[in-house]
Amino acid sequence: MTNAPVICVDGPAGVGKGTLCRALASHFGYALLDSGSLYRLTALKALRSNAVDGSAEQLGALAAQLDVQFKVDAGGTRIVLDGEDVTTAIREEAVGDAASKVSAVPAVREALLQRQRDFAQPPGLVADGRDMGTVVFPQAPAKLFLTADAAERARRRTLQLLEAGENAIFDRIHSDILARDARDASRKVAPLKPADDAVVIDTTSLSIDEVVAQAIAICGENVAKHLIAK
Ligand code: DC
Repeated sequence: MTNAPVICVDGPAGVGKGTLCRALASHFGYALLDSGSLYRLTALKALRSNAVDGSAEQLGALAAQLDVQFKVDAGGTRIVLDGEDVTTAIREEAVGDAASKVSAVPAVREALLQRQRDFAQPPGLVADGRDMGTVVFPQAPAKLFLTADAAERARRRTLQLLEAGENAIFDRIHSDILARDARDASRKVAPLKPADDAVVIDTTSLSIDEVVAQAIAICGENVAKHLIAK
């Protein structure tokens, strides 16, 4: 692992990690790892091969063999799996649901561990996920854990989908979020929880600008200390 500074942003679905991570990556000039996309890619492959409920061995092999490229251009990051642009496909609710299932399989998490660590290159990385601070980058100098009421997260997700022109029913999204939270927090490997040294930010009644400002202040100070100590 390199000594490049890593900023970990963990927390449940729909809490605003993606928006915050993009703002942090742009502020610090760091690369971005959306670790959830790796679980979603594994889930998409599993869905397509009817293997979501397959054996741990089968799912671990799917994760280990992911042929994926993250293509960064002016429009954002495009995700290419086996030569096919799946940027939109992996965002579907069915894929998110399958991702929550396959991500509970230890062999899948193990298969994706090194791939995630390889993203930590100079000048630095912002890592978005559930276990960035606890498992993947335990030595990271800056760790944030975002929380928000499930109802508020469901409201944000509903708006996001409606704005994207998709169908969205608040009650269904709310109950899906509650189910996914329960599954992510109760799984045996890498359950969703803040690292001991993470700063917890409750975003329920904060605007995105307020969250970004707090996060930049905390991470800026911690990364500066890390760089001086190097
Ligand atoms: O953040 P997301 O919705 O794209 O994540 C999809 C699923 O992947 C989610 O149910 C939890 C899982 N996940 C995980 O277990 N560990 C991570 N570091 C990131 C995501």
